[in-house]
Amino acid sequence: MSETITLEVIDRLVDIIRSHTSHQPKIGIILGSGLGSLADLVENSNIIPYQELPSWPVSTIEGHQGRLIIGLLEDKPVFFMQGRAHFYEGYNMAIIGLPIRVMKRLGIDTLIITNAAGAINPIFEPGELMLIIDHLNLVGMAGSNPLRGPNLDEFGPRFPDMSRAYDRQLIKLARQVALDNQIKLQEGVYVCLAGPSFETPADLRFLRNAGADAVGMSTVPEVTVARHSGIRVLGISGISNKANLDGNTTTTHEEVLSAGKEIVPQLTTLIKGVLRLL
Ligand code: HPA
Repeated sequence: MSETITLEVIDRLVDIIRSHTSHQPKIGIILGSGLGSLADLVENSNIIPYQELPSWPVSTIEGHQGRLIIGLLEDKPVFFMQGRAHFYEGYNMAIIGLPIRVMKRLGIDTLIITNAAGAINPIFEPGELMLIIDHLNLVGMAGSNPLRGPNLDEFGPRFPDMSRAYDRQLIKLARQVALDNQIKLQEGVYVCLAGPSFETPADLRFLRNAGADAVGMSTVPEVTVARHSGIRVLGISGISNKANLDGNTTTTHEEVLSAGKEIVPQLTTLIKGVLRLL
C-alpha cells in the first residue's frame, strides 16, 4: 500500500460502513490497549470486523479486538473503534490516520480518543486516568507525520494549526464529570513514541525534561488527522504502569493489559458522563 490515501479509498469505506448501519453518529470513540470492553455496553449495535474493510489498518496486538461497533450509548449514536493499529506494526502513518478520515466523511465532528500510557510524571499511579491537555509529536517531528504527502484539501489546509489540539470545552466537561463522580483525573502532556520497544531510563529522563507526563505509542497521529479536518478531540490516557526512570523495574505488555481492567470502570463513567453532556 502506498503512503497516499485517496478520497476514493476513503469514500469506498464510507459506503461500506453505511451499508451496515442506519445510525448516523457524530461522536467517534477509539479504545486503546486493554480498554475495548467499554464498547460492549453499546445498544442496538452494528458490528463490522476491520478485516471486512478494505485498506483499514488491522491490529495484530493482544488487547485490540479489531472491530467497529456502531450503536447507542447514553442514547447517543456513537462510532466505536474497538482496538487500533500502531505504527510499530508496520503501517505507515497515513494508514493509521485513515479511520479518522472515514469518520469525518461519515459526519463525525467529535472524537474521544483513549490509550494506555506509562507514567513519566512521578505523582501518577497505575490505574489512574490522565486528561490529555497537549501532546509532543516526537515521531512527527522526526518526519513521520500522517499528513505527509499530497494534501487532501477536502479535509483541511496544507499547514493545519495545532495550537489547541485538545478541545478546551471538552476538557472542561471531562473535569466536571470527574468531579461529580469522584474520579481522580490527572492532567498532562502525552508523548507518542514509535515503539515497540519500551523506553530506556535515559529516554524517559529526556522525555520528562521535554515536558512529557505520560508516554505511549499511539493517539498523536489520529489526533493530528482529526485536527486537520476540524474534528474536536477529547484525549484520555489510562495510566497502566510507572515508567522506569531509574532502571529498577521492568515494563511488560501484560502489565498494560491488566491495568486496563482497573481503568475501564472509571473510563466508562467518565465517557458516559461526557456523552450525557454533549
Ligand atoms: N511506554 C510506552 N508505551 C506504553 C507504556 C510505556 O511505559 N505503557 C503503555 N504504553
